[in-house]
Amino acid sequence: VHEMESRIWEIKNVLKERLFLPAHHYQKDEIVQFADVTGDSLQLAKISAENKKAEYIAFCGVHFMAETADMLSNEHQKVILPDLKAGCSMADMADIFQTERAWEHLTQLFGDSILPLTYVNSTAAIKAFCGKHGGATVTSSNAKNMVAWAFQQKERLLFLPDQHLGRNTAFDLGVPLHEMAVWDPIQNTLSYEGSDLNKVKVILWKGHCSVHEKFTVNHIDDLRKNHSDYQIIVHPECTHEVVRASDFNGSTHYIIETIKNAKEGSKWAVGTEMNLVNRLAKIFPEKEIVSLNPNLCPCLTMNRIDLPHLLWSLENIVKGTPQNIITVDDVTKKDAVLALNRM
Ligand code: 13P
Ligand code: SF4
Repeated sequence: VHEMESRIWEIKNVLKERLFLPAHHYQKDEIVQFADVTGDSLQLAKISAENKKAEYIAFCGVHFMAETADMLSNEHQKVILPDLKAGCSMADMADIFQTERAWEHLTQLFGDSILPLTYVNSTAAIKAFCGKHGGATVTSSNAKNMVAWAFQQKERLLFLPDQHLGRNTAFDLGVPLHEMAVWDPIQNTLSYEGSDLNKVKVILWKGHCSVHEKFTVNHIDDLRKNHSDYQIIVHPECTHEVVRASDFNGSTHYIIETIKNAKEGSKWAVGTEMNLVNRLAKIFPEKEIVSLNPNLCPCLTMNRIDLPHLLWSLENIVKGTPQNIITVDDVTKKDAVLALNRM
């Protein structure tokens, strides 16, 4: 480990500003120590758009984030994902063919009254689909603003691919649950509990984050019963029941800021990815910070980026044979950038 770490420092020293290394908050500490910047999805997208100098962006996050970085970077910049298997199981729950099929069905039902919005946790092709149909991307930190914006454009919206973020956000904006329906992309069916389909305002894609679904109302009930002095803060990718039963919810950046600004001695149970929870506990020792699910919840795909993969990708840059370059084709990029820019 020590040898790998020293070599990465050495390479960073050699490449200097030719290399830029952003890392998402869910990355392991062994990676975060080398990060030029850490952030949530929105911050990392903005930073990728702003950094025009670096020749190589070694993106320590997951595939859709690297795609976004590529689409927002300059021609001469190469975005590298240290392990191509670092995907996102939620993003994989919506592909472009399923989306086109769903759109055909939904526009037959609702005409042109729908606007598509996609969480950034989606492929570039789906971002392009949204861009082409007047829609936009959203992140967990601007979802409320973006959903409110969508309702200024059209009467109803299709929210891909995270049903929970979509439901939690629309509910916060005053859309009752009975005005939401769920599109199942495997069965090609729309489930709706009410009787008048015309009342549907939000169509939620049936996707979810396997990490955040592991936080349950039982965990919250246990904590309230046995440790009532804990405040509960969760990510809005958690289910609606969990978000409603918790004290606070927001993006990874919001979670960090809330805990940072909390009183000394305050106690927090956090419903998000394990690496971030452990890091918060380490950097704020004057507060008590635990995971809401005592079994901890790792994002296995984020965790694929580790020291050996990072070192391998940096060695290849130094040798002049960069590997794992993420490129989005120009046609997809043109429409996807429309969606990103609207955000
Ligand atoms: P944010 O960092 O935007 O909160 O997103 C969390 C996440 O799941 C990234 O995949
Ligand atoms: Fe995807 Fe969930 Fe992992 Fe985020 S935490 S990258 S949404 S699987």
